[in-house]
Amino acid sequence: MPETLYIGKNIIELDVVDSTNNYASKLVANQEALDGTVVVAHFQGEGKGQRGNVWSSEPGKNLTFSLVLNPKRVAPSEAFVISKIVSLAICKYLESVIDEDVFIKWPNDIYVGEKKICGILIENQFKGNNFEYAIIGIGLNVNQTNFQNLPRVTSLFLESKKELDLKSVLNELLKSIEIFYLRFQREGVSSIHEEYLANLLFVDEMRRYKTSQGDITGKIVNVLSSGQLEIKTKEGQLFNFDIKELEFVF
Ligand code: BTN
Repeated sequence: MPETLYIGKNIIELDVVDSTNNYASKLVANQEALDGTVVVAHFQGEGKGQRGNVWSSEPGKNLTFSLVLNPKRVAPSEAFVISKIVSLAICKYLESVIDEDVFIKWPNDIYVGEKKICGILIENQFKGNNFEYAIIGIGLNVNQTNFQNLPRVTSLFLESKKELDLKSVLNELLKSIEIFYLRFQREGVSSIHEEYLANLLFVDEMRRYKTSQGDITGKIVNVLSSGQLEIKTKEGQLFNFDIKELEFVF
């Protein structure tokens, strides 16, 4: 049981499931999900990634779980704040375990150096103009060592050379998420915004990006409350990009 106030007090552990996000959605639809419920699976048969991709993970080696939150006071137009809170919390937890620099790759990935260690898939449910639930799916590579044909991927084991206990990692992650979520509830988004920006991959670095309108060279300068990424080009112009409009170039 994590040392938290409410996140993860109700943990549903499954051996096999299609997707923990789907399972959590059904709990919400049946009004069976308490705020802070966590669904964790040993193996997902149809794990979902961003942009319709599949999320595959070696059974029993990694963490694949979903957290249900009920962020009542967040306006749907500001829903991206949940991504900011969760990614910053994961980043800070990982920094406490490994010596390398950990970054948030906008919008929903966590990187160690230039390798992905964790993916986040947030599925929100709104009722009219009210936020009903955020289903926050997290896939964190923990003890997996072999990622065939995936060169830009890593795990906690590969970075720390230590095999970690999945339950302890989950508890620590949930603790970190709760710390940042409670801070946001007490003090608002400004209390996490600067720290979030400081942890962004390539922030303030002149880099090339692929966009729907062709390649640009510029610096990441901000992430707006809408979730759009703001880039200042080398010519000094500001552009905002939606999630599907921009790709990083490594
Ligand atoms: C990505 O990087 O593409 C996002 C990956 C999200 C994977 C997690 S694993 C637990 C949860 N259940 C799912 O089906 N997907 C998310």
